[in-house]
Amino acid sequence: MKHRVLSGIRATGRLHLGNYLGAVKGMLDLQSTSEYETLFMVADLHTITTPFDVEELRKNRREVVIDYLAAGLDPKKSILFLQSDVSEHAELAFYLSSVATIARMQHLPTYKDKVKQYPRENTMALLNYPILMTADILIYKAGLVPVGLDQEPHLEVAREIARKMNEKYGLDFPEPKRFATKGEYVPSLKGEGKMGKSVEGSFINLTDSADQIQKKVRSIPTATVAGGEMTAGVKALFAFANLFMPEQVEEYKAKFENGSLQFGEMKDVLATEIYKDLQPLQEARKRFEADPSETDKIILEGAERARAIASATVTQVKKAMGLG
Ligand code: TRP
Repeated sequence: MKHRVLSGIRATGRLHLGNYLGAVKGMLDLQSTSEYETLFMVADLHTITTPFDVEELRKNRREVVIDYLAAGLDPKKSILFLQSDVSEHAELAFYLSSVATIARMQHLPTYKDKVKQYPRENTMALLNYPILMTADILIYKAGLVPVGLDQEPHLEVAREIARKMNEKYGLDFPEPKRFATKGEYVPSLKGEGKMGKSVEGSFINLTDSADQIQKKVRSIPTATVAGGEMTAGVKALFAFANLFMPEQVEEYKAKFENGSLQFGEMKDVLATEIYKDLQPLQEARKRFEADPSETDKIILEGAERARAIASATVTQVKKAMGLG
């Protein structure tokens, strides 16, 4: 049997550059080798763990599928599906929750951040987030998960739960590992923290025009400080340069060090490079937007193929736990 790969992105809107570099590029790498059976989903159940708008969710879960397709994920090579179409994920999450403690879940940095962000929405669903993510992975017995660095604590939980289930019930879950990409950490355009959908002004959308990208890149704070230290904004600018024009970074760095760097000029070169990378995706997106029935068919078929694997695991787990 081929080893499996599973990954997902929450359906909180169109994908941004951080999702693309941290997760989708890894998905594309793994899809292109015939070594793995690859499954990529839209984590729409995870979307309801924080406040959401029903109509937005209905729209966004489809948008992410279109972004996947436009980026080059191929239903002939990978199983592409919506998490909520395979209800076995939620079912397995409940079985797994019996070996996970509340204290462990409350200590996760991702959980604490969300509670800080939404103090009045500290729900059971939010506390269960990592257990549902564990179910997503273990239900396909996936050993490799292409996701950004910020997801490492969740993978640690997945490994612990896999271990406990194996010990307690004699199951055969692999302990999943993260598959890292060069863009595993993409900084915010604001210089502080990582690029994320929840921080306005921090991200570039995959669908942004050349002008929008230029404007956003120009907004990276690069005011220089006495002593020539790199500020957080300058560091972010160089991190982007590393990702999009690696062969020119040394030259810019030398200029920075001798004080001759024109930030405006560097930013415009960078913006052009980013747009060059995204343009083919934007063209492909138009083709998928023009044919909604094609996307519907892909979603339907993906769910069927995923469900066949997922239901077999759930049957096995129930049996091992004395439930069948
Ligand atoms: N938590 C992931 C994120 O925010 C999304 C996700 C949900 C996921 N289920 C998953 C990623 C399973 C990998 C595997 O990026």
